[in-house]
Amino acid sequence: MKENLKSHLSEVVNLLDNNQSVSQVLKSNRPTEIKSTLNKTLNSEGISFNQLLSDLEKEILPYINRNTDPRFAAYITGSGNPIGAIAEFIKGYYNQNGLKWNNSPIANELEQLVIRWVAEFVGLPDHSSGLLTSGGSMSNYLGLHFALAAKFPQREMDGLMGAKGLTVYCSNQSHSSIERSMVFLGLGRSNLRKIDVDCEFKIDVNKLRSQLIEDIESGLQPLAIIGNAGTTNVGAIDDLEKLAQIAKEFNTWYHVDGAYGLPARNLLELSSKFDGIEHANSIIINPHKWMYVPFEASCILLKQIPKAIHFEPDYLYTANKEDRWESSEHTIELTKEFRALKVWFTMKFYGTNKLIEFIRHDIEMTNYLASKLEKVKYFVVERVHPLSILCFRYENDNLTEEQNEITNQKALLKIENEGLIFITGTKLHGKTYMRAYFGNPDRTKKDVDYMVGEILASIKQ
Ligand SMILES: Cc1ncc(COP(=O)(O)O)c(C=O)c1O
Repeated sequence: MKENLKSHLSEVVNLLDNNQSVSQVLKSNRPTEIKSTLNKTLNSEGISFNQLLSDLEKEILPYINRNTDPRFAAYITGSGNPIGAIAEFIKGYYNQNGLKWNNSPIANELEQLVIRWVAEFVGLPDHSSGLLTSGGSMSNYLGLHFALAAKFPQREMDGLMGAKGLTVYCSNQSHSSIERSMVFLGLGRSNLRKIDVDCEFKIDVNKLRSQLIEDIESGLQPLAIIGNAGTTNVGAIDDLEKLAQIAKEFNTWYHVDGAYGLPARNLLELSSKFDGIEHANSIIINPHKWMYVPFEASCILLKQIPKAIHFEPDYLYTANKEDRWESSEHTIELTKEFRALKVWFTMKFYGTNKLIEFIRHDIEMTNYLASKLEKVKYFVVERVHPLSILCFRYENDNLTEEQNEITNQKALLKIENEGLIFITGTKLHGKTYMRAYFGNPDRTKKDVDYMVGEILASIKQ
């Protein structure tokens, strides 16, 4: 199996190098085109490596989006990094599975170490326990699971029988994974209270308090309050100190979603915006977003991991019961890839100073984009952009509201159809906005100028 690895690898590197020269960052948005290119025949016999690469070149690479390109600024798609990509190869090569500590001792130990590093990186050394997960959605889900486990320890054996009317509170800007978690945990989406936000898209703490009082008076049981440390739409950071006080007063679990924004706590000029996060019971951060680690890598950080839930089916028996970390006793996952390796590679290779420099650069480029668009007639730039997400729209006084809506929607469609840059859209104040996420240290002012040119061209179609 290993024989030809070296020559195979150099062929792959050459092929990927050649593929860099294309101009589109979004390759195709037409499912039929992709489906018709893919050869659907299942091989009964294997093929040569050369043939495999040639099929890769024909069927797959034409449709690989260039997420790593500075002109790609869609959703919150991190750029990853080449060192992390090498870690991914090594991970695959050794094919570790941390399902039990002894099945991959190093994967399990390294997971704990990198969680400590991530916690230290964002100034939360007391939150050095936790788990690596596939993404922020899984981490948010676990946050609510731990809230339930803390409040209803009997849940492990008896389920949630008798725990009536549990409610959870977050802002109407919180990520949809919170609502999805409500569904998947059996809490019900109607028991999620999405509280209004203020003009900076931060949760209105007075409305939160009133809602809590009203719910308690109606016999409901508030389970958790969720704060945002960088919302998906605009990067807003809730008043985390105030939320901590309210969570304490109402005796709820306090969970903070810092999946995207938390790394910015490292910047002196921004760090106080995150004050209060240290009181949270659980916090999430995605190294695969603004720490440039390749997908997938998210963390849930906790002061102390709740009591393990033991299962030992006969086939997972281990004779040695020494003090071992068994991550499957804290989550639903059993098989676990060696996710920690790419976090370790990235943090070690770049070091925290470089990562902070990258984050600062992304914010500078975001501000540069804002300053360019603000100068363009009829462009409205959302004032609140503390981090590296920018929302903006075309709003011509001579057009009706509907015409402006259509112009922005068509512009987004044109951008996607052409694929020369990639930005996506969102809704703010009930209107369609274009939205760019900057999380790529390679982006230069020249790239931003190019993006602005394409954005303006999309309006003039
Ligand atoms: C604030 C926030 N929380 C959670 C998530 C979900 O993360 P993932 O896409 O890794 O599941 C996102 C994704 O963009 C996010 O922005």
